[in-house]
Amino acid sequence: MPETGAPATPGPEEDVVDLLLAQHARVEQLFLLVIGSTGDTRREAFDELVHLLAVHETAEEEVIHPLARNLPGGGDAMVDDRLAEERQAKETLKTLIAGGVDAEGFDTGIILLRDAVLTHARYEERYEFPQLRQHVPGDRLRTLAGAVRAAEATAPTRPHPSAQSAKGNLAAGPALAVVDRVRDALRKPSAG
Ligand SMILES: [Fe+2]
Ligand SMILES: [Fe+2]
Repeated sequence: MPETGAPATPGPEEDVVDLLLAQHARVEQLFLLVIGSTGDTRREAFDELVHLLAVHETAEEEVIHPLARNLPGGGDAMVDDRLAEERQAKETLKTLIAGGVDAEGFDTGIILLRDAVLTHARYEERYEFPQLRQHVPGDRLRTLAGAVRAAEATAPTRPHPSAQSAKGNLAAGPALAVVDRVRDALRKPSAG
């Protein structure tokens, strides 16, 4: 995982692997922030984490894993393992969203989720991304970066205040809306 959390510079040279690596780094930063903070800082960092994970994992499920299935060194078993990890993480995340950052058990749950998500990210970096770089033409990877960024731009960025419960918990609805919007955008024929 890269040492720096600075986002990859969007530009003609950025490919989808650069973009996903930068998102992995930002996910790691946000976990640190959530775990190390309290109150509004923790709530805002958790909201951003939920949003970023929704965008990131949806993009991987729609674009990256299907591509990796057909590559030498990739294949169904590897992709199925990654999808199973993503499903498991989503279940844990839903529980954390439902209870909110002040819930008993949040501290334990967020650490378990961090460990699972970062392990998952390292498997992608070790077994999946190198295959993409090796076997998929650079033009195609750069086009996909643009498609993922465009899809992300269609997603609602901040949960509407009405989406929060009286306790200030983030409802699962906004995260699901992000997933739907990113998925729809990536399924449009123009997404490449
Ligand atoms: Fe993933
Ligand atoms: Fe990932």
